[in-house]
Amino acid sequence: MNLTLKVWRQKNKSDKGKIVEYPVSDISPEMSFLEMLDVVNDQLIEKGEEPIAFDHDCREGICGACSLYINGEAHGPGRGVTTCQLHMRSFKDGDTVFIEPWRAKAFPVIKDLVVDRSAFDRIIQSGGFVSVNTSGNTLDANAIPIEKHVADMAFDAATCIGCGACVATCKNSSAMLFVGAKVSQLSLLPQGKVEATERVKNMVEQMDKEGFGSCTNTGACEVECPKGISLENIARMNRDFLTASLTSA
Ligand code: SF4
Ligand code: FES
Repeated sequence: MNLTLKVWRQKNKSDKGKIVEYPVSDISPEMSFLEMLDVVNDQLIEKGEEPIAFDHDCREGICGACSLYINGEAHGPGRGVTTCQLHMRSFKDGDTVFIEPWRAKAFPVIKDLVVDRSAFDRIIQSGGFVSVNTSGNTLDANAIPIEKHVADMAFDAATCIGCGACVATCKNSSAMLFVGAKVSQLSLLPQGKVEATERVKNMVEQMDKEGFGSCTNTGACEVECPKGISLENIARMNRDFLTASLTSA
């Protein structure tokens, strides 16, 4: 396949950045999107040019690092897949492909296609955990019976990989789907209920501090989420947050 890539190039945080065109040839339809970028980078290095910086780690849809806006869609044209799971057979010979980083105030561009998603880490640090007494009396988690449908809902929420597609695709740059999933995966389970009130208040407060926008129920986040995280998690978080606000000082 021969393609024309239009790639966002930006030297650093303060650089203005611009789209640069790269013609690429002999791309196999069986390559993943990131393998195609590897080929482009090899060619740039051979020519003595700066390779395109992009984020990746597992290349298996697990880590959430490979976050690209491809032809105006978070993680590209596929549904339920991350950029690393996207294959070049999704494109046609002769296509022009625009590749940009996530666009959100809370995710500043570090270089080219790499953004700083540490705002998500700070939200997790503010409450996305369960405190466990490790002095020797820790109860085996499996000793507490949990109804199957509750365990399933918690598991579904826990499949969020923190990629940030929900934020990037939302016109308000809202992080509600991510935070809703991270609150739900714990608050649904008995072990997570102990700190549920403080957790939801702290995580929502941190989310607001980081500069993410409000949710206006467009549902775009759910559509673009590679893990199919449901809007129900936002509704559950809103209910938990309201209850926490009314019942605690
Ligand atoms: S909710 Fe979905 S889109 Fe948002 S960070 Fe989690 S996996 Fe990514
Ligand atoms: S590189 Fe880990 S999800 Fe894509």
